[in-house]
Parts: sequence; structure tokens; C-alpha cells
Amino acid sequence: MRLSRYFLPVLKENPSEAQIASHRLMLRAGMIKQESAGIYAWLPLGYKVLRRLAQIVHEEQERAGHIPLLMPTLQSADLWRESGRYDAYGPEMLRFKDRHDREMLYGPTNEEMITDIFRTYVSSYKDLPVTLYQIQWKFRDEIRPRFGVMRGREFYMKDGYNFDLTREDALHAYNRHMVSYLRTYERMGLTAIPMRADSGPIGGDNTHEFLVLAQTGESEVFYDARVPELKLGERAVDYDDREQVAGICKEFTTLYARTDETHDVKVFEDQVPEEHRRVGRGIEVGQIFYFGTKYSEAMGAVVTTPDGRKVPVEMGSHGIGVSRLIGALIEANHDEKGIIWPEGVTPFHVGIVNLKQGDSATDAACDSIHAALVAAGLDPLYDDRDERAGSKFATMDLIGLPWRITVGPRGLANNVVELTSRRTGKSEEMSAAAAVARIKEIYAAL
Ligand SMILES: Nc1ncnc2c1ncn2[C@@H]1O[C@H](COP(=O)(O)OP(=O)(O)OP(=O)(O)O)[C@@H](O)[C@H]1O
Ligand SMILES: [Mg+2]
Repeated sequence: MRLSRYFLPVLKENPSEAQIASHRLMLRAGMIKQESAGIYAWLPLGYKVLRRLAQIVHEEQERAGHIPLLMPTLQSADLWRESGRYDAYGPEMLRFKDRHDREMLYGPTNEEMITDIFRTYVSSYKDLPVTLYQIQWKFRDEIRPRFGVMRGREFYMKDGYNFDLTREDALHAYNRHMVSYLRTYERMGLTAIPMRADSGPIGGDNTHEFLVLAQTGESEVFYDARVPELKLGERAVDYDDREQVAGICKEFTTLYARTDETHDVKVFEDQVPEEHRRVGRGIEVGQIFYFGTKYSEAMGAVVTTPDGRKVPVEMGSHGIGVSRLIGALIEANHDEKGIIWPEGVTPFHVGIVNLKQGDSATDAACDSIHAALVAAGLDPLYDDRDERAGSKFATMDLIGLPWRITVGPRGLANNVVELTSRRTGKSEEMSAAAAVARIKEIYAAL
């Protein structure tokens, strides 16, 4: 992509409405535009990151054996009356009537609809287990939308639902979700800690939230300092191997880690040696629930067992805040100049800065680097605008591409360009071919 042909409306001034770095930087980097309180248009750069995160979520869900589908954002109130949540949900639910005076709502979550889909088609244990998920817009009329996409009213969420015959099967599904979520966050370059949580309006007794540690997080968190050090890493996971999956969950949930909702001072002090006790703040980027037959009983989602009995299906639901993750990623990865994308989620793999636009040798070198990167399956952003070098650097630093190749007449006279890491700020001179090869190597390792 050439910047001269792209749509990247960066702002020079700090928007006064933004209180935290991620909100400020998303506005300044031309990623989002506010349309109403808590409702945003995703401009091309923001949309690119959103799609990238959704792709990682899809890949990790499918790897765990979960099946994607897509449900509508608009739902009928009747479905929610069956579960009893139409009245219970309260003013966060956006309700309206269609032209025939039918009561409708914009879905804040989809337990009722997925249970209805399930009961329409499945009636035997032979069709179990199955886990269905979607990535779809949700609406919750938050009383105080704030911090940009962190607490929006309209937001993009992965929501998955498991259907199993027995409680053990459903707990395996719960564990599978925990492990696939850990992998998902690690691939994005984030450390998200599973913490024992409260179930809220979803219901049920088994639930963990995943929190990214950040000063600006809305939840207070209490944890053992050894927990954020835990990594899934490169280990191979067989999602059908119940013992292995349960073992990983145990590894990540044995040491103390809780939010203020479930924090217990006595347990904290008894279990965690003083030097390991940490109190901080965190951003909730996901939550998993096992709730058994809460919805299947209320809505008559029943299956026959091998011995001919009829039982309500065992269920759980599992969410990832895909749009909120962009805020969390930026909170965890920025400096005073702008965003610093981890390679796994960056909107463009590398920026190319032409220091002397219009100089035929420099233009030709940039074109050929751009072409070589594209031929290697990479997605570079070439700043080919007629602008001062300082302003080109400032834009690149603001939008946070992890690598920059700088090309100017002085370097070219010695057959070198400059390769710069956004994270360390360190630059190295090398031939254009070597720079392209290095970028290829970095992304091939992901
Ligand atoms: N208003 C929102 N804006 C952006 N993301 C959200 C919002 N509400 C929830 N999410 C994301 O969706 C995920 C799954 O939804 P869930 O029902 O668990 O949310 P929640 O527990 O009500 O969130 P919160 O406690 O932050 O209000 C959350 O972990 C969070 O990452
Ligand atoms: Mg939650």
C-alpha cells in the first residue's frame, strides 16, 4: 500500500475527550471515529487490526475443534422471555419495536438464540459434543461508555457455546476454552491471566475472567507474582486429550489470581508468600462460563441418552472482547511517540520511508523494496508522500509499525538502507536485499 493512496486521517493534536493512552492513540492514528457515545466507525487502519485479531481468534477456535457460524444482531424478545432474562437484563439491553409492533432487541449476548438453534436440530446424544461460536457485534447500553473501544456500547465479541451430554464433557469444553484463549492472547503478544470471577447475569458457578495487567484497567486484581510468568509457549496441545488440557488449566489456575469481586484477603495471605503478593489493575479481555442446564432446562433443549432417557443438554458460554483487545494491546504497547504493535497483530508488517520523494534513484529503490516485500506475501506501507522526513517518521512512530525501512540518497550511494525497530529504536544499515530478507525471516517465525 502506498500512503498517498491510503486513507489515514492522523490527528496532530491530542483529542481532549480521550483520558487514556489507547483511546488517544486510536483517535490520533486514524483508527476510529466516534459516531455517538460508545459507538465508533472503524477507519481503515483500525479495521485492519480488528480483522487481524478476528482471524487469530478464528484460527485458535477452529484448532480447538469449535465451529464458526453467524447469528443476527437483532433478536426477538420472545426468545428472552423463555429464559426469563427479558425482564432480568435491565436497561443495558437496547429494546425497540418493529413496524408490526413486535418487541425486538439488539443482542447483548446470544445464549437464548444459540439454545433455540440447538433445540431446533439436535435431539440425540449421537450429535454431541458440539461447540458453536461466532464473532459478531453486540450492543450493551452501558451507563458510562468510556475509554474508546474499551467500554463501548456497540462492540465486537467472539461468543462461543458448548453443548455436551454430561457435566464432565462440559467441563472438558470449559478447559478447552481456557487453553485456546491462553493461546489466542499469547499469539497477540499479550499476557492475560485467568482469574476466578463472579458469574453476573450469565449465571452458573464455574467462571474465569482473563485479565491483561494495566494501570488503566477497570478491575482491581490480586495475584501471585509468579502467575504472569506462566507461558503456554510452543508446546503442542491435543484438544481431545482431557488430561493434558486439564493439566494446563491446573498449571494456570492453581496460584492465587482473583479480581476484587472474588478476592479473599485471608486466602491471599495464607496462600501467597508476602514477597509474591501483588495488587494491581487489569483489563478484562475474556470470560468463560460453565452453567450446566440453566438455559437448556428453561428452553427445553433436551437430548436422549444412550439408555433412552431424555436430559437437558449441558452448556457453557465463552467470550472474547475482540474490539476491547485493541485498547488493551495499545495500553500494553506504546510510548510517548505512539503505538508499538506486536508483530502478530500489526496492521502493516513494515513501513518504507522515502527520504527524498521525486529523486529517481530513491523512488526506484523504494519501489523495488515494496515489490519484493509484496512478492514475499508481506503487507508493507510505503510512505511515498511529498513530506519532510521528520513528519514521515512521526507518522510511522504514531501508527506503530514494528519495523521501518528508511531509504535515502546518501545511504543508496553506499548501497545501504536503514532498518529500524519501533520497539527499541535501534537502527542497522544493510543492503536493501538484506533488509527484505530480515523482514521475511521475522514474520516467517510467527
Ligand atoms: N462494553 C463493552 N465494550 C467492549 N468490550 C466489552 C464490553 N462489555 C464486555 N466486553 C468484552 O466482552 C467480553 C465478554 O463479555 P462478558 O459478558 O463477560 O462481559 P462483562 O463481564 O459484562 O464485561 P464488563 O465486566 O467489562 O462489563 C468481556 O470479557 C469483554 O472483554
Ligand atoms: Mg465478563
